[in-house]
Amino acid sequence: MKVAVLGAAGGIGQALSLLLKTQLPAGSELALYDVAPVVPGVAVDLSHIPTAVKVTGHGKDNLADALKGCDVVLIPAGVPRKPGMDRSDLFNINAGIVKGLIESVADNCPKACIGVITNPVNTTVAIAAETLKAKGVYDKNKLFGVTTLDVIRAETFIAELKDLDPSAIHVPVIGGHSGTTILPLLSQVEGVSFSDDEVSSLTTRIQNAGTEVVEAKAGGGSATLSMGQAAARFCLSLVAAMQGENVVEYTYVQTDDSDDAAFFSHPVRLGPNGVEEILPYGDLSDFEQKAKDDMLEGLRGDIKLGVDFVKG
Ligand code: NAD
Ligand code: LMR
Repeated sequence: MKVAVLGAAGGIGQALSLLLKTQLPAGSELALYDVAPVVPGVAVDLSHIPTAVKVTGHGKDNLADALKGCDVVLIPAGVPRKPGMDRSDLFNINAGIVKGLIESVADNCPKACIGVITNPVNTTVAIAAETLKAKGVYDKNKLFGVTTLDVIRAETFIAELKDLDPSAIHVPVIGGHSGTTILPLLSQVEGVSFSDDEVSSLTTRIQNAGTEVVEAKAGGGSATLSMGQAAARFCLSLVAAMQGENVVEYTYVQTDDSDDAAFFSHPVRLGPNGVEEILPYGDLSDFEQKAKDDMLEGLRGDIKLGVDFVKG
């Protein structure tokens, strides 16, 4: 397996690369790319960790080398939020960054699975899809918006509230990755019940958790360490599935479901070629059904913004 991290010198990129260096299967290759001049140093630094994962560093003129032969490409390149901003405020800078990187993925490793982390994810995944279509290499089974952070936050907050072991809790989170488009399905958490007040306050906390970090970092960026962990979990699941294991993760994929939005987080069975099967998210409570109905227009608008950005 060859995995590339684009934006590898950033807050997420470094945390993610560390976790992948220590947890990818033996014999894997990890290619780190960034426009920041420190990236070869990050690669040298990681290369001193004694695991059988080969690390290479690639500066701004060497993106093609980073991408050639890749099986998985993870993209955390771009600017993060500051207090007072929404994720959509990042569109002006990050849309062009994602488009440029995806063009190079299309040219150098068109069959790779791509995990988009850069915000606004609701929109950047649509940008990636349209860019790949324009290059004639789009495969909807190989493009993912990484929404695993919402899942791990939901697991953590429920474990805290109910004094449970977080590793034993599994929380479906559907929709998109911003504000009310993040929809945890608390009615489906096995073995745990919630009062109406708990459902309301937990849902709001999970939806606002990114802002909680942005405000706590007070201008120093957004979630990087928890996101590194979330992206590593997603990538390691994908790699395991590509090597034959049966793995399901919640992720933002093209669904072709006109009742929801063109892209929507679902439980997805992963496999050797990316999406093996998009699974249904099951029955919703009245609270969840209303939350889903209320968010759809906004999510569809976010997706349209991405499509229009590429199509002009
Ligand atoms: P950061 O500023 O710490 O790192 C970003 C890195 O991207 C920098 O090293 C920068 O040099 C690099 N970069 C910029 N343009 C590039 C380009 N064209 N090619 C390659 N590298 C480039 O930011 P961060 O905290 O790591 O966040 C990165 C992105 O991830 C932000 O957009 C943030 O909003 C998003 N994010 C998403 C989630 C999620 O759940 N999907 C969670 C947290 C953050
Ligand atoms: C998060 O959920 O932490 C990320 O999307 C970053 C942000 O801007 O909130």
